Amino acid sequence: MAVVTLLFLTGSYTAQAQDGGTLFKANCATCHHPFKDGTGPKLSGAREAWLENADEATLILWVRNWQEAAAQNSYAQQRSQIKPTAMTAFGDKWTDEQILSIFDWIDAQVEDTGGGGPGGPGAAEGGAVEEEESSLGWIWIVLFAVFATIIMAVGGVRRQLKHAQAESEGDEEGAKASYADELKRWAWLNRKYVGIGALVVVIGILVALFQGLYSINIMEGYQPSQPIDFPHATHAGINGIDCKYCHNTVTESKTASIPSVNVCMNCHKQIKGNEPEQQAKIQKIYDAAGWDGQKYTGKTKPIVWNKVHNLPDHVYFNHQQHVVVGGLDCAQCHGDMTKQVEVAKVQSHEELNLVQENIDAEIKFTKATLTMGWCIECHNQSTIAPGILADDDSETLTYYDEIHNRLVKHNKTLYSKFLDDDKVTPRELGGWECAKCHY
Ligand code: HEC
Ligand code: HEC
Ligand code: HEC
Ligand code: HEC
Ligand code: HEC
Ligand code: HEC
Repeated sequence: MAVVTLLFLTGSYTAQAQDGGTLFKANCATCHHPFKDGTGPKLSGAREAWLENADEATLILWVRNWQEAAAQNSYAQQRSQIKPTAMTAFGDKWTDEQILSIFDWIDAQVEDTGGGGPGGPGAAEGGAVEEEESSLGWIWIVLFAVFATIIMAVGGVRRQLKHAQAESEGDEEGAKASYADELKRWAWLNRKYVGIGALVVVIGILVALFQGLYSINIMEGYQPSQPIDFPHATHAGINGIDCKYCHNTVTESKTASIPSVNVCMNCHKQIKGNEPEQQAKIQKIYDAAGWDGQKYTGKTKPIVWNKVHNLPDHVYFNHQQHVVVGGLDCAQCHGDMTKQVEVAKVQSHEELNLVQENIDAEIKFTKATLTMGWCIECHNQSTIAPGILADDDSETLTYYDEIHNRLVKHNKTLYSKFLDDDKVTPRELGGWECAKCHY
């Protein structure tokens, strides 16, 4: 906010800087922040350094295709080594002016030393942080107004009281009454207004708190840009590659690994792509693997994918448990990835509900994906059936059959209570216990 006002005053506020901000937030902010290092380095002052050591054209080329820039210019070459990750090549998406407008915007930012709070996933989320701040801004204005009114009123009443006291009791008495006593007296006399004022303050604080809580960790729709525009639709959809071919630890462990570049090379050594656009994308796999078309050169550059789904550290989530033991479909939590043409994103709970209908699951989400409410809701609706994995993994089958059998034998009342709704839910087996999900 302060930045915008400042720019208005100095008259240098142009539509360009604003466009630059929009472009930055949509394309660069997943990896870059003006003042903080993230996946990519902080960008404040970067242009200046480039103008000193290289030139504007190279900087623009860098944003279009950093590899070309690095091949032509020693400074670009040097800068391409500073992080283990590779930057996205944006190609000819934008004009020179548009690219420069991004840097105009970056250079127009003023560092907020008051601390904007740590970023969420992907380290740099300038946009989100800013929005949060502006939505909280009005609350401070209201609070300030309320306090200012009270202080002014107290001042006025204080003078009146003094005056009245001086008149009736003489000067010394009036001088002795302490400020706190006066305030108490005044508050009592004006209890209606003080009450309303206090209520406004309390409500204001509550609203601020709730807004803060709601805007923290709502990840729906989160779709960071990735070093390679990997389309799930082409792989898992059109070419029908099984999810587990690439996410091969999903049935064995807590996490569902992201495939290494070797997995890509299994196919892409042969599949080079037909159109130039495809070829350019697949070339990035070769660069990462250090493949020159004939042989491996040994010059590898790991692809560092940005995490899309990301729970806080204090939450325990296990894929094996849900996919194997719970028998859930990936789509119930991730949406239909076989139709995902763009890079992966956190699907909204409304989209997930559509998937549930398609596969005849009875789950209906009302809470945002990846929030605690989301987990809890499903644990109250899913079914754990005996023999759920009849032809899958006999060990886990016995685990659940054993629970059912144990209940039938030893605690029939509890079992029939569980079966009130004709099913046993994860909740009834402890899926609502804090310690199951929290370390
Ligand atoms: C996928 C992550 C990613 C995205 C998205 C991204 N960058 Fe980068 N950027 C990097 C990384 C990583 C580096 C460091 C270069 C390296 O080590 O290869 C970098 C370096 C840079 C540099 C050189 C910084 C320096 O200190 O010299 C500039 C300039 C830059 N990026 C601009 C941009 C702009 C502008 C955008 C948006 C249009 C953008 N980047 C989007 C990851 C990203
Ligand atoms: C050819 C390999 C391949 C196949 C097959 C594949 N994926 Fe992926 N998946 C990837 C890569 C690479 C990424 C990282 C890029 C991205 O996030 O878009 C990814 C990312 C994801 C993510 C987001 C990860 C995160 O960071 O939160 C999910 C969820 C996912 N895949 C689910 C699936 C599902 C479900 C299927 C089967 C329908 C599937 N994938 C099939 C390669 C694959
Ligand atoms: C099982 C084989 C297989 C594996 C493994 C595989 N791919 Fe592919 N990939 C394909 C096929 C088939 C195509 C479609 C080529 C075409 O349309 O001509 C493709 C196309 C692509 C494209 C071009 C998509 C477009 O825009 O049209 C990209 C990018 C790509 N793959 C990236 C990857 C990455 C990254 C990995 C590793 C995480 C990977 N692939 C693993 C088979 C595979
Ligand atoms: C019960 C819901 C649920 C189901 C079912 C599910 N996932 Fe996930 N998935 C998640 C959550 C939650 C995360 C985030 C985990 C974290 O941040 O620790 C995640 C993360 C991922 C990731 C990112 C890597 C990781 O492990 O953090 C991939 C890839 C992925 N899932 C693929 C799959 C595939 C493939 C399937 C089906 C075989 C699947 N998931 C089934 C909820 C689910
Ligand atoms: C689509 C439905 C669904 C969603 C969403 C879901 N779960 Fe589950 N969860 C299940 C089912 C079904 C089971 C039972 C399988 C089992 O006990 O292993 C389960 C079991 C568990 C268990 C083991 C409970 C026990 O009694 O041992 C934990 C821990 C757990 N889930 C954590 C989570 C967390 C954390 C999330 C949210 C990030 C989540 N789940 C989201 C369906 C879901
Ligand atoms: C089924 C899994 C599950 C159970 C059971 C569960 N939680 Fe959570 N909880 C989560 C997840 C997932 C998050 C993270 C939500 C987010 O990031 O928005 C969370 C977040 C929280 C937070 C907010 C922390 C933060 O990130 O700001 C608190 C506090 C919390 N849980 C307390 C509890 C308590 C107390 C219980 C027991 C009554 C409980 N949880 C039971 C899954 C669970």
